[in-house]
Amino acid sequence: SETESKQRGLLIVIEGLDKAGKSTQCKLLTKSLNAINIPSKYLHFPMRTTAVGKIIDDYLNKRIELHDSAVHLLFSANRWEYEAEMISDMKSGVTLVVDRYSYSGVAFTAAKPGFSIDWCRGPEIGLPRPDLVIFLSLSQDVAAGRGDFGEERYEVDTFQKKVLSNFKQLIEPEWKILDASRPIKAIQKDIKEQVLEVMNEIGECVIERLWT
Ligand code: TYD
Ligand code: MG
Repeated sequence: SETESKQRGLLIVIEGLDKAGKSTQCKLLTKSLNAINIPSKYLHFPMRTTAVGKIIDDYLNKRIELHDSAVHLLFSANRWEYEAEMISDMKSGVTLVVDRYSYSGVAFTAAKPGFSIDWCRGPEIGLPRPDLVIFLSLSQDVAAGRGDFGEERYEVDTFQKKVLSNFKQLIEPEWKILDASRPIKAIQKDIKEQVLEVMNEIGECVIERLWT
């Protein structure tokens, strides 16, 4: 009926190391949700097209140097500048499929010397809390078999190892850990199953906030 308020959109986050297949899975999921009339949007942090995102892109491509603390805050600002739109999308029923989020923000910066997980969480506090976090897990061997890393900052084996150990500290009991070494279709099937399950549970629940 018209008085029945419509279900809000979900915030779904896919995390994992470089080469785990996050972007592929996020795009497939967005497409398949839209195909069954669940309005969905693909988001990817860092969002390199904004003013803040352009600085991040320059930094990642080693065109500029920045203080590690400044970079951390920029990655966070890059999420905050999208906060209002995320909230309004979800309230209007749009499900957001997000390729990396605050967990990447914390795991990557905390892999640098002198940065604690606690300090790194600070600027992320208060961002919309995901309804579902899927972690695509990939062994070092399989990742290596997917070819070399690119040329960007952080795309270095030793650094990625530290990032992984930080991710492990961030994992919460509700996270879904999926084996990313399997065929694309098999992973997608699992992801979709998890999403539909959470969608049934969420209903009209309020949007919670991170780390409060
Ligand atoms: P990535 O998702 O790999 O972008 P692309 O697919 O366009 O290459 O993200 C770029 C790098 O930024 C990646 O190494 C992870 C890192 N990163 C952070 O350090 N902090 C953050 O908050 C985010 C979202 C990413
Ligand atoms: Mg990358």
